[in-house]
Amino acid sequence: MWRKVSWPIVGLIVFLLASIAWAQAGHVYVVPSQTSLEAIAQETFGDAKYAPAIMRATNSKHLVDPSFLSINSLTMGIPAGAKLLIPDRTWAEAFIAFWDPNRPEDLFGGGKLVVGSWWTAGGEAEGLNALFEIYDEHYPDVQIVNATIAGGAGFAFRAVIKPRLIAGNPPDTFQLHAGLEVEGYSPETYLMPLDKLYEIEGWDKVLPKDLLDLLVYKGHYWGVPVNIHRANVLWYDKAVFEKYSLTPPKNWDEFFTICEKLKAEGIVPFVMGNTGGWEAAHLFETILISTLGAEGYKGLWTGDTPWTSEGVTKALEILKKILGYVNSDYSAHSWDTVLEYIAAGKGAMNVMGDWAMGWFLGKGVDVGWAPVPGTQGIFDALSDTFCLPKLAPHPINALGWLEVCGSKEGQIAFNTRKGSIPARTDLTAEEKAQFNPYLRSCMEDFARDAIVPSVIHGAAAIESWVTDFKDAINLFLVTKDVAGTQKALVEAAETALAAMK
Ligand code: GAL
Repeated sequence: MWRKVSWPIVGLIVFLLASIAWAQAGHVYVVPSQTSLEAIAQETFGDAKYAPAIMRATNSKHLVDPSFLSINSLTMGIPAGAKLLIPDRTWAEAFIAFWDPNRPEDLFGGGKLVVGSWWTAGGEAEGLNALFEIYDEHYPDVQIVNATIAGGAGFAFRAVIKPRLIAGNPPDTFQLHAGLEVEGYSPETYLMPLDKLYEIEGWDKVLPKDLLDLLVYKGHYWGVPVNIHRANVLWYDKAVFEKYSLTPPKNWDEFFTICEKLKAEGIVPFVMGNTGGWEAAHLFETILISTLGAEGYKGLWTGDTPWTSEGVTKALEILKKILGYVNSDYSAHSWDTVLEYIAAGKGAMNVMGDWAMGWFLGKGVDVGWAPVPGTQGIFDALSDTFCLPKLAPHPINALGWLEVCGSKEGQIAFNTRKGSIPARTDLTAEEKAQFNPYLRSCMEDFARDAIVPSVIHGAAAIESWVTDFKDAINLFLVTKDVAGTQKALVEAAETALAAMK
């Protein structure tokens, strides 16, 4: 009989089976005789309280497949022969924990999912799209709205999103760095604590301890991490390094020797952008790590390391010296556009977080990497999370988004494109093999290295401090005044530490 079945039909069957598997996870239930939702919940979950979850899942499914029942109230009689979707227990539990009986729309599917982020550059946009594709496979009834505000590191984004949050007009979910950045959003007022979701999903068991610690603010989890990025990476043009028999510099002396050599060859030794107003400060943060070490750098943000330290002076001197080797048009480039220098073989080195790897991947550039000189064995870490505003217009749609963000499936699809590593630590060897050599080495480094929090990317300090820090460095680019800048940094620390008490 099989021989009679034509290949197009086999293809169609495979496609249909695949679409069923990809639809919102759950199983089909055909009602044997007239009953109620509560009775079905009792039978399928062993508890009538899951009736609203079955109603929502079935209604969502009905929108894309009308053979499923449309349920208009929790008390409606469910006729014999009706087709229902019984959701997975994890999803059902999350739904029950977050739905609000005063929001009847929670029980109906469809609507939008407005996702706020600043991911518009190469690599970033691809990663975000990969998440959207997975979301769409699971929740085809929902229309995704990609609400981006361009500008690396999210400074422009935060300036727009905050007033919206305060005005009661937030997106359904938005990008938020793990760490003290959340303080700037007054989370107790504007965001939903996600502790219950962590418990249901078991995220506290699969996320690394360092990250979990960073994610807690005022005793709660406020965001679901999709990744871990490394900020202290030196990217270099492999072809240029090979041509001039160079090896990646392990310290700043080696770095400047290379700079001299390349300058004489007419190649821009070090490229940097700064249109975002944060890129130079990002570089400076990594230099501070090299001059102070992991503990010394961490202490800067807790008050344990004085900003008057020699290590800070030294870091400013190194930055000043680097400015003698950078592209003269740095103030006209952003973190991503300046990488074109390296792609074109016109610039040799750059310091940027590993979202640059996402950019290089997208462009098909085979780039070299090494820790920023003097930061070997230290991992300057940050993480992107998504949060749930209290006034999210479609909170249940956002809940599905958070689940995708925290899932293995979501993190593998996203991070292989984004240039970051999954926040989850439970990947199998086979799953890890899907990542490129840089990302695999990064996973090993994260497990082995000393982890320090990035300041420019929201982990280490409250936002007002980040702003003062970045402003002091931007002024330094012009004045090159080491003593004056160090004084400004000391004052910024005093103000912030006093505010944090
Ligand atoms: C960081 C963010 C990364 C990357 C980068 C450049 O703050 O965490 O995911 O997007 O900005 O935009």
